[in-house]
Amino acid sequence: MAKVHAIACQKGGVGKTTITVNLAAVLDQVLAKDDAAVLVVGTDPQRSMDWWASRVGDDIPFAYTETSSPADIAKLRDLDYAHVFVDTPGSLENEHILRTVVEHADDVLVPITTEPLTFVPADTTIETLIKPLGVPYRVVINLWDPRDGRADLDDTIAFIDQKRWPRMNTVVRRYKLHSRAAAEGLVCTQYAKSRVGLEAYGDMMRLALELGEAGVGR
Ligand SMILES: Nc1ncnc2c1ncn2[C@@H]1O[C@H](COP(=O)(O)OP(=O)(O)OP(=O)(O)O)[C@@H](O)[C@H]1O
Ligand SMILES: [Mg+2]
Repeated sequence: MAKVHAIACQKGGVGKTTITVNLAAVLDQVLAKDDAAVLVVGTDPQRSMDWWASRVGDDIPFAYTETSSPADIAKLRDLDYAHVFVDTPGSLENEHILRTVVEHADDVLVPITTEPLTFVPADTTIETLIKPLGVPYRVVINLWDPRDGRADLDDTIAFIDQKRWPRMNTVVRRYKLHSRAAAEGLVCTQYAKSRVGLEAYGDMMRLALELGEAGVGR
């Protein structure tokens, strides 16, 4: 039985694909002895996962596949992996795919950024889609740039807390390394061991550990 983690928010550009790929990479590293540890499934018709994986090439640390077939999505738990991370489409017209993924997930991670523009789509995804299905979920703040100061971050935290949405303590900071990674064919476990490389990797590692602590990981 696999633990199925969906990464979902009906807004483009909040970091679903970035978080999916990098969480899978760090979990694979943590579970290194297990051959069939981690599978990444791309369900976005834009096939962003395929593109990323093709750039990484043979060095890709986890198994991956693309599908938006409801029959395939319904069977992900039966696969022989410890963890399955499912990237989902950000567009409203593909809501049926997202709904199928959430229905068959053990938990959902909802990325939000410190730009208030992302608050309403997150609200829609959580209140109209995830909550009615009764699947455990947590919000994760992505793309915070510490150089902008704490005000936006504090406002975002206040918004999430006022909604009473469960929230990851880990904030994923904005690093050029992450935005260049897909084009350069890298996942965060392969970043240079420079200060920023380790910080960018560290955020993803902390997020993966937090996912596990709440009992949703293994
Ligand atoms: N923490 C981060 N630091 C820097 N860049 C980031 C970070 N997270 C995401 N990005 C960049 O932001 C852009 C959007 O990220 P991503 O493609 O992961 O979002 P998405 O939610 O999957 O979007 P879509 O709904 O369009 O698939 C990408 O260029 C990505 O490299
Ligand atoms: Mg994406």
